[in-house]
Amino acid sequence: MAVVVPAAGVGSRLGPGAPKALRDVAGEPLLVHAVRRLRECPSVGLVVVAAPPADVATVQALVPDAVVVAGGAERQDSVAAGLAALPPDVELVLVHDAARALVPVEVVEAVVAALQAGALAAVPVLPVADTVKQVAVDGTVVRTVPRSDLRAVQTPQGFRRAVLEAAHRTAGAAVTDDAGLVEGAGVTVVTVPGSPLAFKVTTPFDLLVAAAVLRG
Ligand code: C5P
Repeated sequence: MAVVVPAAGVGSRLGPGAPKALRDVAGEPLLVHAVRRLRECPSVGLVVVAAPPADVATVQALVPDAVVVAGGAERQDSVAAGLAALPPDVELVLVHDAARALVPVEVVEAVVAALQAGALAAVPVLPVADTVKQVAVDGTVVRTVPRSDLRAVQTPQGFRRAVLEAAHRTAGAAVTDDAGLVEGAGVTVVTVPGSPLAFKVTTPFDLLVAAAVLRG
């Protein structure tokens, strides 16, 4: 199973500093933790990392057993660059955010199992704990969205490679995840249980949480 790891984000919500994947967490860059976690997964073989274009050599030195390519301006572009680097014989592919560096092995393997059982696309999800409201541009509430129908979606997201590549070729406006692209193409996406540990490091608070988890 090949994994494409988009890791080219600047991480502007973390404040000034190195690109997000290169931020230190418990003594090592976030990306190093993410790739190590993927390597613990029995199903994972090839790892392709889409790095910030200015940092390809730095990232290659950090993860010598991965193929490192230059990412793009949007996450979608970085994933496309990673897909383009896959050997022709790869039929199933995972896409996993470097920022979700603490994903448990069981979550990765559950996505893989769904693909091996025949799913064209599979994503890990969690129930939504907060009540969610749609708001207008002025900040006033439009309506409350029934929470029981909602799930928060994580990565890795798994795909039959041909399905994901076709969706990328026809992609229009930017979507925030890869499953969104294949949904747009009418493909059924199955869900498997996610984990709170697969949270996306986005803010300085998340960096503290990740460091605390890694230090046990
Ligand atoms: O921006 P966000 O935090 O949602 O990014 C999710 C993942 O996508 C991160 O691992 C980030 O490095 C990656 N990304 C990328 N290329 C971009 C933007 C984000 O690889 N241009």
